[in-house]
Amino acid sequence: MKAMKIRDINFLRFLTLKLPLGQVDMFGGALFNPVPGTVMGKHIDRFFQRGYRSYSPAFSLYFHIPFCLKRCLYCWCERKAVAQKAEMQAYYQYLLGMIDAYAPHARGVPVDICNFGGGTPSLLSAAQITGLLGSIRRSFAVREKAYFMFEGSPRTLTLDKLKALKEGGVSRISLGVQTLNKKVLNAVDRLQSREEVERCIDNIRSLSFDFLNIDVMAGLPLQTEASFLADLRFLIARKPEVIHLHPFWNIQPSPYYQMKKGDIAAFFKGRHTMTRKGREMLLSGGYLRRGHEAFQMVSGGEKEQSVLYERSVGATLGIGAYAISTFPGQAVMQCLPRSGKDMTDNEYFGYAYPKHAVMANFIILNILSGIQRKDFQRIFGESLEGVFGAGLKRLEHLGLVAWQDGRLVYPGTRSFRALFDLFAWIKILYDDALLEKLQANFSREYHSSVDYSQERFMLKIMDNGWFVQAVYDLGV
Ligand SMILES: C[S@@+](CC[C@H](N)C(=O)[O-])C[C@H]1O[C@@H](n2cnc3c(N)ncnc32)[C@H](O)[C@@H]1O
Ligand code: SF4
Repeated sequence: MKAMKIRDINFLRFLTLKLPLGQVDMFGGALFNPVPGTVMGKHIDRFFQRGYRSYSPAFSLYFHIPFCLKRCLYCWCERKAVAQKAEMQAYYQYLLGMIDAYAPHARGVPVDICNFGGGTPSLLSAAQITGLLGSIRRSFAVREKAYFMFEGSPRTLTLDKLKALKEGGVSRISLGVQTLNKKVLNAVDRLQSREEVERCIDNIRSLSFDFLNIDVMAGLPLQTEASFLADLRFLIARKPEVIHLHPFWNIQPSPYYQMKKGDIAAFFKGRHTMTRKGREMLLSGGYLRRGHEAFQMVSGGEKEQSVLYERSVGATLGIGAYAISTFPGQAVMQCLPRSGKDMTDNEYFGYAYPKHAVMANFIILNILSGIQRKDFQRIFGESLEGVFGAGLKRLEHLGLVAWQDGRLVYPGTRSFRALFDLFAWIKILYDDALLEKLQANFSREYHSSVDYSQERFMLKIMDNGWFVQAVYDLGV
């Protein structure tokens, strides 16, 4: 097989424009056939029969609640605004039905993690929360020490719901605060008051949940550095075990982006300074940086992070509209509403997800904090160099990775172009044959005389999302 020439890096930069992070449609679907939506049960069966545990350490259930009180203008995520009571009840019944349908396929497979996300899961009533948690525990082989996580917003996460969560064995509450500033809240159309945030945190603490995570955002419309830092100071004083500091991504799915508001360059500049100062405040306030956006309290947050690390490479059965199921080595499937109106009428779409792609994504997600050789071996049952040997040598040769005490690290400065190249390389480093196919596949679109690392191309990736995270949010 002909080896990739190092000087062909311009083609890799071109590819990076085509490849969203972590998804198997990264090759534009050209190389993998979509998985028909009707065969979800068969996929689950096949996946478990193949003995996935030899390289997938965690099995998660994920429930998506695609409803919110109102649509916040900055929000990128998939949900339907404003659920009526009857609609929520119908959706709740639908989730119970899905549990009944899928649990028999995963019979006997221990569940390590169960996560409720959205949208706003705290729009479920206390009775619905109790009903769902009970059904999950009756239907799946939930481990005694399984980790249950639930996401909510301050206005909707009331004391009665928190009690239902506590009684149902939920140990981690993730509270979306984003900002405490009235002007900013108005500018982004978010329904919330400072008093509601304070009350909600007090209620969570009074019930002694093991972990409280708080999400805050930097760079929102009308947010100033002073107001952002004041919010952060206030939240740090409440000592949540974890704080996620999300720099605002002004990207395609958000209503704000679609309104074409704001000057992108000015926006990134302001946001960048806020994010940097926020990170400094967290580090000096008793938090350690873990991952891209997570800050964990020096004492108390350890378990949290190791759980999330395992989940990033494990298998997930996603239930509900927009939920994503990941069966590493086999397929990724998303459950999508047929009409966009009725959230109980869905269909699965997916792509093949070969093990090599799982491993390459794992490297992308973890390279900036370093990857232990032994962790890779433990998770995948294969050695990092055994799988990626030739590719890693190329990256070493280019100065994009290095080995330090058994850890694969990124040794360079995080310049825009160096990171761009690093991710481009990792995307394809596992397979020269694949690269050849890609070259053939994109032969008409790719023009070798064009420099694909130019800013106008990079801005194009922002629509896609992932590269913004890689470059702007990692301290470049
Ligand atoms: C899926 S949202 C759910 C949060 C929950 N519904 C709430 O309102 O509190 C999860 C987190 O994503 C973050 N987020 C949403 N849109 C974002 C954007 N455009 N840029 C950066 N972070 C964003 C917010 O911090 C939010 O808490
Ligand atoms: S931030 Fe939360 S409440 Fe606001 S639109 Fe996004 S998911 Fe809904």
